[in-house]
Amino acid sequence: MRVLIVDNSTETQALCAKRIEGFTKGDKEMLDLKVRLVNDREFVDRLSEADVVIFGSGISDQAISLARQIRTEAAWIQIVMFVTDKEYGGGAFRSAHSVGVRKVFPESAGSLDLLQELVAIHADFRKDGRTYEGRIVVVLHAKGGVGGTSVTAALGEACSAANRRTMLWDLDVETKDLSRALAASGPEAKIISGWVNGSRDINRETFRDALIPIVGDVSVLTPPAGFAESMDLVCHADGMEISQRIIELSRVLFDVVIVDTAGRMGPAVGGLLRVADLVIMVTDDSELGLTAVDLLLTSVKPLLGGSDRLRFIINPSSDEPVNFKQISTELDNVHQLSEAAWSLPVIPFDPKAAEWPGTGSTLYSSGSKELRNVIADIARKLGLVEQLGVKGVGISYDEDASSARGWLQRLFRRRSESEMR
Ligand SMILES: Nc1ncnc2c1ncn2[C@@H]1O[C@H](COP(=O)(O)OP(=O)(O)OP(=O)(O)O)[C@@H](O)[C@H]1O
Ligand SMILES: [Mg+2]
Repeated sequence: MRVLIVDNSTETQALCAKRIEGFTKGDKEMLDLKVRLVNDREFVDRLSEADVVIFGSGISDQAISLARQIRTEAAWIQIVMFVTDKEYGGGAFRSAHSVGVRKVFPESAGSLDLLQELVAIHADFRKDGRTYEGRIVVVLHAKGGVGGTSVTAALGEACSAANRRTMLWDLDVETKDLSRALAASGPEAKIISGWVNGSRDINRETFRDALIPIVGDVSVLTPPAGFAESMDLVCHADGMEISQRIIELSRVLFDVVIVDTAGRMGPAVGGLLRVADLVIMVTDDSELGLTAVDLLLTSVKPLLGGSDRLRFIINPSSDEPVNFKQISTELDNVHQLSEAAWSLPVIPFDPKAAEWPGTGSTLYSSGSKELRNVIADIARKLGLVEQLGVKGVGISYDEDASSARGWLQRLFRRRSESEMR
């Protein structure tokens, strides 16, 4: 959020900026604040660089005419105004609000008052789509081995094909399947351990250092290096705070964040379910798989506050036809799920694609054209890539398998070459 502080002297501008300096680093990062100081004579030239204008108390009455000017020249800008403690009262409120000032503060107001207002403005911008934030998708599965990791990686590759900045977060802290399958390993995991054991701050710099770039715009955030930290992250209540910070930072830095939870519930995953834009439940079509989904839904639905954000992906374990209608009807009868929950296509079973881990491909590019098109369709329906028909972005349906392939292969090739040396 770009904030322009306007006052008539550098001293009073600095006084106003001091309130923002009082915010924690985390709050500043979350709001993605960029602050500029300007005097009342120059501020019109700077309006195009602002989302929020803060008038300091030094310019007093003049602030009203400047606010009116903003209304005519840049009506989308939010205005906050400080007045002297003496001026603070009904008269100041009436004249300020008549020209569209959002909030009036007395000079004695502190950092937290201003922070609260900026958080509210930021939330409004998000609602209106003005503040760009990445989409958070949490992948769950009730029974093991149904394809949670495969779907996460495949969607990552589909997003990469559409040039989306994507983070794949591996929360499979025991076996690190996603990281291993994508050859993402290294000292970065020690940074994540540091966040959990408290030896390192989690901020924008350490967050960037912890990411392992896979290829192009895709990075992996692995589990912590140590087992104790891994367990603490997913099982301990403190892990919730760290995972919330990871989400806040990743929302700012990425277009798409996909979390492979490996089906493990705990405080961190519970918190993620609350903030996720979408939650995908991957299941096969077996009796055991579907009864497990039934059980898991009982605990997940209250955390989701309904099923609007829930999407099922049926990933069958054989090429026998799937009775989609029967599965959806049976689960709907018990859990009253939304129509959108069933809007994603069934993933075709493809034995050739099953070999994807460690090959430099994912389900997206290693199997049949039908499989690739289904993954691309899922990515679109989840809003991770643009709809078909939007020029310049999106995944081409007619993409040739050989050109789709190679996402990670270049990386794998590079790694094996350097190993041979
Ligand atoms: N559509 C598919 N067609 C063929 N094989 C698939 C398909 N989807 C996944 N597989 C294969 O099934 C196996 C299990 O998949 P995966 O590891 O993604 O499951 P998971 O749900 O993440 O398992 P876990 O419970 O261990 O986390 C893998 O070998 C994978 O390649
Ligand atoms: Mg897995």
